[in-house]
Amino acid sequence: MTSSLTPFSLTSSNEPSARYDTPSLVEAYRTAPYYHDGRAVTMMEALTEHDPERLHGKLKDLTRKEIEDLSAYVLSL
Ligand code: HEM
Repeated sequence: MTSSLTPFSLTSSNEPSARYDTPSLVEAYRTAPYYHDGRAVTMMEALTEHDPERLHGKLKDLTRKEIEDLSAYVLSL
């Protein structure tokens, strides 16, 4: 899914000077790989390994099962 740039967009951890808008997750089941540079091949990767600055909240506090449920939910949109 394409991200666009505005002065108000979030920064990205691997490109600190770049900013990206929040993308729609509708039909995310068919838009892998994820993030502006495609660094997450699967939804589980997007929600676990590729959010080092925790821009998506405290996902590390969730159990594996809770993250799997969240992944299944996002992929159902
Ligand atoms: C439960 C809540 C959330 C989930 C499950 C979630 C999940 C995701 C996923 C799967 C992507 C990759 C989408 C793609 O590349 O097509 C993404 C990207 C992104 N999300 Fe979230 N997100 C959540 C909440 C948020 C919130 C609250 C914000 C902002 C305050 C946010 C900001 C962003 C931004 C800026 C990107 C693009 C980052 C990039 O392209 O590098 N997300 N999110």
